Amino acid sequence: MAEEIYSPGLEGVIAGETAISTIAGGLQYRGYSVESLADHCSFEEVAFLVLEGELPQANQLAAFRDQLNDAMFINSEIVETLGKLPESSSMMDVMRTGVSMLAHWDPETGDNSHEANLRKSIRLLAQLPVVMAARERLRKGKKPIEPDAELSLAGNVLWQLFGEKPTESFARAMDVSLILYAEHEYNASTFTSRVVASTLSDLHSAIAAAIGALKGPLHGGANERVLEVLQEVGSSERAAKWVREALDNKRRIMGFGHRVYKTGDPRAVYLKTLCAELAVGRSEFEDMEQIAETIEQAVTSEKGLPPNLDWPSARLYHYMDIPVDLYTPLFVVSRVVGWSAHVIEQHDNNRLIRPRARYNGKSERTWLPISER
Ligand SMILES: CC(C)(COP(=O)(O)OP(=O)(O)OC[C@H]1O[C@@H](n2cnc3c(N)ncnc32)[C@H](O)[C@@H]1OP(=O)(O)O)[C@@H](O)C(=O)NCCC(=O)NCCS
Repeated sequence: MAEEIYSPGLEGVIAGETAISTIAGGLQYRGYSVESLADHCSFEEVAFLVLEGELPQANQLAAFRDQLNDAMFINSEIVETLGKLPESSSMMDVMRTGVSMLAHWDPETGDNSHEANLRKSIRLLAQLPVVMAARERLRKGKKPIEPDAELSLAGNVLWQLFGEKPTESFARAMDVSLILYAEHEYNASTFTSRVVASTLSDLHSAIAAAIGALKGPLHGGANERVLEVLQEVGSSERAAKWVREALDNKRRIMGFGHRVYKTGDPRAVYLKTLCAELAVGRSEFEDMEQIAETIEQAVTSEKGLPPNLDWPSARLYHYMDIPVDLYTPLFVVSRVVGWSAHVIEQHDNNRLIRPRARYNGKSERTWLPISER
């Protein structure tokens, strides 16, 4: 029997091994710093790297793009159902339902072999933006837009949402945000996907469960609440007072703090520069940059909490006019890469994940007949 170790929230616990990414000494995907990947690669190259373990050669990237383009369409029954979901359905619930529906039409849903898992991952990567954009348009009474094989995955996200070819700077900003969100070791949703995969359940089930975990405001859901903070503060002058009051009231300020990055999230640092670039020349957004900076300084000096990736990504998406409730679904569109890689790694070398609990309930009780309780 192994030594009994207990850490609430599994904080600091090594719960498994992975060759996909590490956060020790900065975030690295397969040994490459996330900054160097964001500087030089497209999201498609990074997705290939995370899934396959190596950066693609030119012919491999072309083949990967072809696979994505071939899969970038969803069955008409799925589109129809997306249009019929209640108006009140949250977009994250739509994404979860989307994955569940895609499983019914995927030709290899029940095949957990390495090769089938890879093919399914690529199909999901191609299909999830289509699900998100189709639902977004349908709920606004518009017709879904077919993906354009000439555009990148990031470009297609914007094209299918807005029906206009994205500017180069918007397509690049979306691409970078997808790269930064793609993978992050044993976070709550990834761990969820591995727990599901470890029962030898299938990839689609693991991804649907991971979406459920990502939805929560302490995880992916935070990026949708960040804009509320910026709007509530409203001006740089109010920032310091607002932060002090929020902290005095024990309020959690969304977009700050992290379970493992205690001195700063490198992804947030990287994306902040891109936010500032996108805001240039648009006074309303330049003001928002100022407000964000003042809040950042106040939270850091009052509580020593640095921003996480959700802090700048919310602004970035706002500057691209993306509806707030698509911020976490965009996280899904990207993180499906990391989740899939972890499911594949788990299936390739499986051991059922089944920890123990420390019992703190009552004991040694005597059963009584119902008439005497
Ligand atoms: C991400 C998060 C859950 C990590 O939390 P954690 O590792 O469990 O940290 P703890 O909850 O132990 O917090 C440590 C201290 O910092 C405070 N704290 C942490 N994040 C905070 C935040 N965003 N705003 C205000 N206070 C915060 C806690 O209240 C606690 O204060 P105390 O010691 O005075 O009681 C937490 O930082 C958080 O809720 N952030 C906001 C949501 C968010 O942005 N999530 C996205 C993560 S990528």
